[in-house]
Amino acid sequence: MFQKEQQLIEEKIKEFCTANDIALAELKWQAIPFSGEWGFSTSFFQTAANEAKLGKGNKAPVPQKAQEIAEQVKSQLGSVAGISHIEAVKGYVNIYFKTSDYAHRVVDEVLANGTEFGRGDVKPETVMVEYAQPNTHHSFHIGHARNTILGEVLARLVEFAGYKTIRASYPGDLGLGVITVMWMYEKFYKGQEPTGVHERGQWLLKLYVEANQLLEKKENETPEQTSQREAYEAERRDMYRKWDAGDEYVRELWRVTREWSLEELREVLHMLDVKMDVWFYESDVDEPSKAIVDELIARNIADDERPNGGAVIVKIDEKLGLTKEKYRTNVILRGDGTTLYLTKDLALAKVKFEQYHVDRSIYVVDSRQSLHLQQAFAILKLWGFPQSEKCYHLGYGFVSLPEGAMSSRKGRVAIFKEVYDEAIKRVLSVEAEKSVDIPAEEREKIAAQIGLGALVYSMLSVDNNKDIVFNIEEALSFDGRTGPYIQNAHVRATSILKKSTFNLQPATFDYELTKQEIELIEQMSQFPQKVQQAAEEYRPLIMAMYAYELANAFHSFYHAVPVLQTENENVKNARLRLVAAAKQVIVNALRLLDIQAPVMM
Ligand code: ARG
Repeated sequence: MFQKEQQLIEEKIKEFCTANDIALAELKWQAIPFSGEWGFSTSFFQTAANEAKLGKGNKAPVPQKAQEIAEQVKSQLGSVAGISHIEAVKGYVNIYFKTSDYAHRVVDEVLANGTEFGRGDVKPETVMVEYAQPNTHHSFHIGHARNTILGEVLARLVEFAGYKTIRASYPGDLGLGVITVMWMYEKFYKGQEPTGVHERGQWLLKLYVEANQLLEKKENETPEQTSQREAYEAERRDMYRKWDAGDEYVRELWRVTREWSLEELREVLHMLDVKMDVWFYESDVDEPSKAIVDELIARNIADDERPNGGAVIVKIDEKLGLTKEKYRTNVILRGDGTTLYLTKDLALAKVKFEQYHVDRSIYVVDSRQSLHLQQAFAILKLWGFPQSEKCYHLGYGFVSLPEGAMSSRKGRVAIFKEVYDEAIKRVLSVEAEKSVDIPAEEREKIAAQIGLGALVYSMLSVDNNKDIVFNIEEALSFDGRTGPYIQNAHVRATSILKKSTFNLQPATFDYELTKQEIELIEQMSQFPQKVQQAAEEYRPLIMAMYAYELANAFHSFYHAVPVLQTENENVKNARLRLVAAAKQVIVNALRLLDIQAPVMM
């Protein structure tokens, strides 16, 4: 936010060092948190170390030398507009702003940039974020919601940080699980599917569970039961074989049932305000991945052991020259000519790099697939893709309900839509008592914003690697680290501004600021750098924690500092500007978190 001053000072320092033949190291600036004043600082230790290495000047130890340089720099800088004073302490140069200037500039900058406040400079790289890629013929459960929310928020962060961003999905739409559901449908349920988009998607899971019960070997089976089960198994296998051979009837059955899942997925993405740019499917990369196997064999990256009755494998560790086991040896084509999940990931990555010109490729995928993805990235490296170095797996842990762990095979999953409906129902029942004056329709809209906000924030406020036990009571609380707590800060700011009868007026901050105002200004000023940090480190949690701190600062301000009741006109105007700016930063932060900002609650 103070690049201009920083640049000016940096130039002065460089000039001074060149003139005096001092081997200046790169200057790293840091903000000084408020302690009576705001400021920023840089150290001269590296420069002092450079000097010592070159044997220049006196033989003083590095810290002493750093302090000497800092003092010289300080005396050279003279006065800079907007800077109150400069000090040289312990090898650092600390530069302080006039508090009223600083406050004024933070608030003005936010108000001038509005929804764009915090956006980073345009960067020359294209980033693809792949997420929301559940397998079809299944239902969308709360674990998928965690995936989708993490991915969407990461995409928003990366985009706002200044990268060209492409959102991609990659549903798994083939394999034994898919065939199992198709077989069950065809045999027992044809034409009985429910009509609602969510109901039909969820229903496929029921079929899957039932099919697994029929196909599972039981203890003490009677001979009739055994032969029945084997007959079912043979039918399923036959259907798989036909699918593989491109049988028209089976393919059509597949297309129709697959579309039911995709329709549900699109509906959920719509509810979460996710707009995908690209849809990849596992079935699309199956064929192309076979050609890749041939290429890898020809280039001696893969070993073809089919002539000896084996498969096509990649001895990743050996090819990379690793002596310790890390990536192991992987099959990329079975003896019968079928591809694997890994093979398809190689084909997918090639499309991402070559057709979409992706420089950085992020995969938001369950942590349990970590080894798989590391193997894929390692093979991409052997294959010669420089982008393999910029492939990143954002893993995440389990989501369970207090009732216990989930299992799709047994049908024990928390369906996202059900949890979502429940959250909204609960908010509505509270709202109905509290806010009788809000029309019912409006109330429903607000309840959806709060219920979903609670759900989304509870997925973001936990480190992605940790498991989550989703507790709906806690998530909906208006206190503590929750979505509604942050949304409520927005509601309060909005209501103050609504009560003020005039537009924002110019004002100065040259009065004694309360500690709540200082904290709020400090939080607001940190937003742009939090955006960059969260994007660079691929960590939505950083923005989630920041939004909480910001809301917290606003709530404290709201409780302690009068705004509309202030006598002094200038102070009142300054505080109204501060409230408007805080509201804006809360909106911007919530938007990055894919949470809506209600105006009432
Ligand atoms: N469909 C997979 C699953 O549900 C996730 C896909 C992950 N992405 C990838 N490129 N392998 O487990």
